[in-house]
Amino acid sequence: MTKTAIITGITGQDGGYLAKMLLEKGYKVIGAYRRGATDTFGKLKEHGIFNQIEMVEFELLEFTNICRAITKYKPDEFYNLAAQSFVGLSFEEPIYTTQVDGIGVLYILEALRQFSPETRFYQASTSEMFGFAQEVPQRETTPFYPRSPYGIAKLMAHWMTTNYRESFNLYTCSGILFNHESPFRGREFVTRKITSHFAHLFLGQIDEPCELGNLNAKRDWGFAGDYVELMWEMLQQKKGDTYVISTGKTYSIREFIFEVGKTCGWDIEFKGESEHEIGVDKKSGRILVRVNPKLYRPAEVEQLLGDSSKAKEKLGWTPKVKFAELCKMMIDADIVRAEQGVL
Ligand code: NAP
Ligand code: GDD
Repeated sequence: MTKTAIITGITGQDGGYLAKMLLEKGYKVIGAYRRGATDTFGKLKEHGIFNQIEMVEFELLEFTNICRAITKYKPDEFYNLAAQSFVGLSFEEPIYTTQVDGIGVLYILEALRQFSPETRFYQASTSEMFGFAQEVPQRETTPFYPRSPYGIAKLMAHWMTTNYRESFNLYTCSGILFNHESPFRGREFVTRKITSHFAHLFLGQIDEPCELGNLNAKRDWGFAGDYVELMWEMLQQKKGDTYVISTGKTYSIREFIFEVGKTCGWDIEFKGESEHEIGVDKKSGRILVRVNPKLYRPAEVEQLLGDSSKAKEKLGWTPKVKFAELCKMMIDADIVRAEQGVL
């Protein structure tokens, strides 16, 4: 029998990859989106799947609307990918972020409990919950220490997801995913900010260096296309659980810049310190990166590194795309877009 899945955050990076994968598995996919003044379906159209998804209006702050969607479809699986997902913005909009990323998830859980308790639920949790990491590498048992309103709101949602499993016997999963990127990453995030800027620099469409904040931060970067498989896998087990999903390798922002620069034919070296630091192509002397302290965060997560042993053992998963391949995939895609004038 055809399975039905609701995906919230369908217009985001992960929404597109997950929808594509579920459609390939024969699912009926219901895309939960919020109405905007401008078209937000660009990623789904680029994936070539927009016409295969049934869309339903969905706003995380509107309980009635969540209840209607769940009552109407009573889906087999519900993937909650919607969130105010930008950590930097969460310092400027802490209340909104907490309402959407924390309370919004509680609305969904409560609606499932009332109207569709058989639905299997996936919550998009995050390595940001580890924040000021209390252990290296971070695993399911590592104590949490979030460093942003985003991380704190997500931690509330994580515990609600766990609590509804333990209290009401719902099948719920929390996927603690470490950073995952792709050519469909939002341009506000550091990886895509770099690749989109570098694509324009490479083609000579702009001259100004890319302005960035803290270059010391290190992240465990994987490929979004790999990670959505794990979301699905988590909902196919005997019971719900929490899993860390990561590559087990960590790289600094500088290393990401260097790797992306290689595809552009640049050999980038870093000169100066703190707010005076610049990234320069050794051969031409061209300045490609400049630090702007206005982009520093009030509290920073300096390093994330995950241990996915549990997912490997129980879900049989290992990441396929490696760091260098991911960097190349992203810059190649942005160069093509910039050439076509669609970046
Ligand atoms: P994304 O590209 O920023 O997408 C976020 C999605 O949420 C968009 O579809 C957005 O819709 C929707 N949304 C935002 N506020 C909403 C609201 N109030 N009501 C309904 N929809 C709303 O995020 P992503 O990278 O795909 O990540 C997916 C999920 O995984 C997020 O929950 C994120 O926090 C979490 N996560 C991501 C990573 C990562 O590295 N990517 C790691 C760990 C966890 P619009 O298009 O209308 O804005
Ligand atoms: N965005 C951004 N822009 N980040 C910068 C910049 C800049 O100009 N310069 C330096 N950084 C640093 C940030 O300070 C941070 O340490 C690191 O680059 C990564 O920032 P983001 O790409 O914005 O991602 P994030 O790690 O804060 O959050 C992402 O990953 C989380 C999982 O750990 C998001 O996808 C979250 O939604 C996700 O939960």
